[in-house]
Amino acid sequence: MLDSRKVTASAPGKTILFGEHSVVYGKPAIAAAVDKRVYVTISPREDHLTHVKIGDLGVSGFLDLKNQSIELENGSEMQRGILEYVMKALIKAETVDSVDVDVRLDLPIGAGLGSSAAITVATIMAAASFNQIALTNESIANLAHQVELDVQGAASPIDTSLSTHGGVIYLSKNPQKLVKLEISGELPIVIGYTSTRGNTGELVELVRQKKEARPEVINPILDSMEAVANGARQALIKGDHKTIGLLMNINHGLLDAIGVNTEELSKMVFTARNNGAMGSKLTGAGGGGSMIAYCPGREEEVVSSINQFERAFKINVAQNGVRLENPQE
Ligand code: PMV
Repeated sequence: MLDSRKVTASAPGKTILFGEHSVVYGKPAIAAAVDKRVYVTISPREDHLTHVKIGDLGVSGFLDLKNQSIELENGSEMQRGILEYVMKALIKAETVDSVDVDVRLDLPIGAGLGSSAAITVATIMAAASFNQIALTNESIANLAHQVELDVQGAASPIDTSLSTHGGVIYLSKNPQKLVKLEISGELPIVIGYTSTRGNTGELVELVRQKKEARPEVINPILDSMEAVANGARQALIKGDHKTIGLLMNINHGLLDAIGVNTEELSKMVFTARNNGAMGSKLTGAGGGGSMIAYCPGREEEVVSSINQFERAFKINVAQNGVRLENPQE
């Protein structure tokens, strides 16, 4: 008999406020969970197949969890990668074939908002609940990070930590730290994104090569990024707008110096500043992708000025990380 269990979990996306790239070398980073979520629903099937559908992207396919293979039904070869996150997440939560997985996206994909981590985290929680396995948030974050490492080869735990825990987080690998920052009020942040997305792996590699070729130049830049993130941590807690803005601008300059900026990103960064942002910088890997602007009281002006030539929206911080949407079922 078909059982009636049906579980939905959701997880937010993220944006990096300070410390991208330097975080790869053990320096601290600060990131915020964004109130745009991914919803994953798992329900039983009568046959022994596992089917995944991501309607918003027109992607679907059958998974073979036992043999770890994917048969793409709809979507491009590039989009097959998204199904891989879902497959590995289902396996981590001890799922056996015979489930339907429906993924809904409330956040733009490819905008540097950590959609793959959000899908992974929400899938692990939904599957664990479906399989009646109790997982702490720490273990969800760890399992999701392992999935990202498995699929991508390299990844910092930023995306999976934010999707799991929510809020604004200061984290570093060396020493290992994950601190939720208590920030009063909403962060006045606007995100702008280009249609072209940089390849995170390639950009991380580009920085590594620069660091190897010129350690005497690059290492002090990474040290400065660390000082920026530490200063920003204090400024965010105090709500010191001027310092937050100043440090964002410095961080953008440092990211430019290590070669991950683009003309399109800088155009948005300077448009934001010219329209009232107190600070702005690229966010994430760079090479295309997204920027953020810190613009207390000027969010609308900044959004509409960037919308003249790219896309922008105001974000709110998602205080809740991963959660079950129908715990009573
Ligand atoms: O572009 P995103 O959101 O994948 O961010 C990449 C951030 C890096 O620091 C460049 C890499 C990482 O894994 O932390």
